[in-house]
Amino acid sequence: MKLFLDTANLEEIREIKRWGVLSGLTSNPTLIARENEDPDTHMKALCAEVDGPVSLETTETEADPMYEQGVRLSQVAPNAVVKVAMTPQGLEVGKRLIADGIPVNVTLAFSPAQAILAAEIGATYVSPFLGRLDDVGADGMFVLREICEIYRAQRYDTLVLAASLRHPMHVVEAAKAGANVATMPFDVFAKLAKHPLTDIGLDKFLSDWKKLQKELKEGA
Ligand code: E4P
Repeated sequence: MKLFLDTANLEEIREIKRWGVLSGLTSNPTLIARENEDPDTHMKALCAEVDGPVSLETTETEADPMYEQGVRLSQVAPNAVVKVAMTPQGLEVGKRLIADGIPVNVTLAFSPAQAILAAEIGATYVSPFLGRLDDVGADGMFVLREICEIYRAQRYDTLVLAASLRHPMHVVEAAKAGANVATMPFDVFAKLAKHPLTDIGLDKFLSDWKKLQKELKEGA
């Protein structure tokens, strides 16, 4: 399972890149708006910073303007992936973009039925939003497992991109379910690396080492 960052913040991207585990980026209009930069310039900067696919989302809702926007987004950089919302217009536009050879991410997917539609248009990614399902009292992980099972049974090529992940166990369970990609905000990435026993163990190793150095110095 590849790990993507869900952000539009360049510093966050640089930090996770340093860890050597960043395979791609997802953004959305909310995340881009949060950065208070010129969106076009900022999207270029995001694509330049990431060695891997970068999802850029359409904001038009009617098919023709959405298609034109999708083509423009695909021209931002060679690693741009165009996000279309899981609506009838999004599917129509996704299909047209795919026919042009543009990779598409069908986003805002909340059910296996929607995921089947995304696969049938030949999308590169489908993005089920687990956390937002949990937020409304549904079971996001159950939906993800069903999508993965259907995709395996049908041998769909579309990659399952588990999105709206809110904590490390979402990531672990997504990996167990067979998701191809997990995208998460910076704080979830940071939590993946954390374990209190690592911190306690490291403190002990370092203090014992320091003690030994002191003893050696005093004995010399
Ligand atoms: C993914 O592409 C989305 O940008 C993201 O995962 C949404 O997450 P949220 O529900 O935490 O906003």
